[in-house]
Amino acid sequence: MKVLITGATGLVGRELITLLVSKKIDVNYLTTRKSELNSIPNCKGFYWNPKNTEIDESCIDRVDKIIHLAGASVAKRWTESYKKEITSSRVLSTQMLLKLLKTTKHQVTQLVSASAIGVYKPSFTTLYTEESLEFGAGFLADVVQLWEKEVDKISKLNIQVSKIRIGLVLSEKGGALLELIKPINLYVGAPIASGKQFVSWIHIDDLVKIFAYIIDNNLDGVYNAVAPSPETNKELTIAIAKQLKKPLFLPNIPKVVMKLTLGEMHKIICESQKVSSTKIQTAGFHFQYKELSSALASLLS
Ligand SMILES: NC(=O)c1ccc[n+]([C@@H]2O[C@H](COP(=O)([O-])OP(=O)(O)OC[C@H]3O[C@@H](n4cnc5c(N)ncnc54)[C@H](OP(=O)(O)O)[C@@H]3O)[C@@H](O)[C@H]2O)c1
Repeated sequence: MKVLITGATGLVGRELITLLVSKKIDVNYLTTRKSELNSIPNCKGFYWNPKNTEIDESCIDRVDKIIHLAGASVAKRWTESYKKEITSSRVLSTQMLLKLLKTTKHQVTQLVSASAIGVYKPSFTTLYTEESLEFGAGFLADVVQLWEKEVDKISKLNIQVSKIRIGLVLSEKGGALLELIKPINLYVGAPIASGKQFVSWIHIDDLVKIFAYIIDNNLDGVYNAVAPSPETNKELTIAIAKQLKKPLFLPNIPKVVMKLTLGEMHKIICESQKVSSTKIQTAGFHFQYKELSSALASLLS
C-alpha cells in the first residue's frame, strides 16, 4: 500500500509516518516548505503551496490512500489575519486535493482527514457522539465545519471519506502537554477557570494507531479520536503534577486572566467538550492508553 500524507512534518504526521513505515507502507508526503522535502527518512517529499494552487502532481503516483493533516497551528494568537490563515490553510489545501483527484489519473480509494472535537458545542454535561449535530458557534467550530464540508466534496468522486475528530493530543514531543507542564515545573501550575471543563485527551500513540486502523479496515464516516476517559482540567492538572512529583498550591487561574494573556485563543483551554470514543471501539479498535495516569506515566517518566 502507498499513502500520501499532507501536514506530515507536524506533531501527528511524523509519529504517523514512523508507524506506517514500520508496517512496510510506502509513504509520499506533501510539504509547503522546500527545506523539508528530504527531512523524513524512508519517505518521498513533494512540494505544494495551496495558497497559489501549486502542487507537484507526481505525488499521487501509485497512491492508494491519502491522509490529510495539513493546517496552520491553532496554538498561536488568533489575530484577525491569523484566523484567516487557520481557516484558509485547511480549506484551500482540501480544495487542492479535490482538484488533484479530479484532474489526475490516480488509484486513490480513500481519503482520511484530520478534524477536531472543537466542532462540538461547549458543554459541561453532554457526552458527544459522532451522531451529534450540536455544533458550537465560535471560531473553531466554524473552521471545523468549513473544513469538513470541503472534505465531504471528495466523496462525490467515488472515494471513501473518513473524518477523524481529534481531541487534545498528549505527546512528549510537542503540543499541549509541553505547555501544560511548563508552569507546573516552575511551581506556578494551577487549574484553569473553574477547572470543571472537560478535556477529551488522546495519547499520540493511540491517535496514530487510529489513523492506521481506519485505512487498514476501510472505515468511512466520522470518528472521534479521544481516549475513553475524558477528565476535567482540574483532574488533568493534578495528574500531571503527580506524575512530575511537583506540588500544586496556587488557586485556580481565573478565566479573565487567560483571556487577557491568550486573547480569544483562551477558549481552547477554558471551554468544555466531553466526547465519546465508543464508535471507534465498537469498530474493533483497542486503546493502549485508556486512563490518563497510564498515558502520562508513559510520556513523562
Ligand atoms: N495536536 C492536536 O492536539 C490536535 C487536536 C485536534 C486537531 N488537530 C489537527 O490535526 C492536524 C495535525 O495536527 P498536528 O498537531 O500534527 O499539527 P502541526 O504540528 O501544527 O502540523 C501541521 C502541519 O500542517 C502544515 N501546514 C501548516 N500551515 C499550512 C498551510 N498554510 N498550508 C498547508 N499546510 C500547512 C505544516 O506542514 P508543512 O510545513 O510541511 O507544509 C505542519 O507541519 C491539524 O490539522 C490539527 O488541526 C490536532
